[in-house]
Amino acid sequence: MIRLRAPAKLNLYLRVLGRRSDGYHELETLLERIDLADELTFTPAPGGMTLTCDEPALDCGSANLVTQAATLLQQACRTAQGAAIRLAKRIPIAAGLGGGSSDAATTLFGLNRLWQLGLQISKLCELGAQLGSDVPFFLEEAVFAIGRGRGERCEPLAGRVPSLWHVLVIPDERLSTKEVYEGFDRQESVLTEPTASVTMCAHALCNGPDLAGLAKGLRNDLAPEAIRRCPAIRDIQHALHTAGCVGVGVSGSGPSVFGLCRDAPQAHHAARAIQHDSPPAWRILVVKTNELTAPPWSWGHRV
Ligand code: C5P
Repeated sequence: MIRLRAPAKLNLYLRVLGRRSDGYHELETLLERIDLADELTFTPAPGGMTLTCDEPALDCGSANLVTQAATLLQQACRTAQGAAIRLAKRIPIAAGLGGGSSDAATTLFGLNRLWQLGLQISKLCELGAQLGSDVPFFLEEAVFAIGRGRGERCEPLAGRVPSLWHVLVIPDERLSTKEVYEGFDRQESVLTEPTASVTMCAHALCNGPDLAGLAKGLRNDLAPEAIRRCPAIRDIQHALHTAGCVGVGVSGSGPSVFGLCRDAPQAHHAARAIQHDSPPAWRILVVKTNELTAPPWSWGHRV
């Protein structure tokens, strides 16, 4: 049996450059892997493929990205090997945190090992991109990366970047990424020139980090549409600012909102302050950069 962690991500920066002919949007994004994670276990099962999950709200059928990743790998390698996969869901669903994509990446990684297929990470990334734009990021040896194209072309940030501390607040609502992009198009959002570029943000990260510079550069072009669909995002942004966070950002297509904090004590202090006055349905978490770097970055234990 193999047990692996599948971490969530935050988008510190997400700029939409334009719509593509394939219906996707051309992006420039800065991604961070954080220490909030699902857990997946893979057990050989010669009889076929099964997925079970401790979260009843999650569809464990053919629509699940874990099942899709397993099937894609079977087909790509023409193997009939099976697996019993168990998913312990800790990352909120449809929250802009990349949970489904990370589960898919971890499934490709885990089954490649379990079935001894010997595929290189580059090949797993190629397969992963067919499942979702964020999947390659979760396969890269990267804690932070710039994503381009659909988001699937990842360029890991070189060197060691110190960990960031965040308060993460997730309202009790789900947003479909597809629908947020569609809404973004319908609003005919004007694509403004950013005050900071993705490389300036990356530079602020690698330079200390320069938290004030990074805070100024936080951007997400999908945020206005996410707020239109989920007005609680605006209340959370306000709460995070009031609690003293250095900067505030929306992750992916929302509705998760994060506050950038100076250190662990400030993050815990801000989380407690928000908890005190917030609706009980908000999930409030202190999270930090997932520091595990090179492969096997996500290795749990082989039992
Ligand atoms: O790639 P992923 O499956 O995560 O994307 C979900 C949906 O979000 C896509 O079907 C597409 O409608 C939209 N999307 C987009 N441009 C991107 C990424 C996602 O339009 N760069």
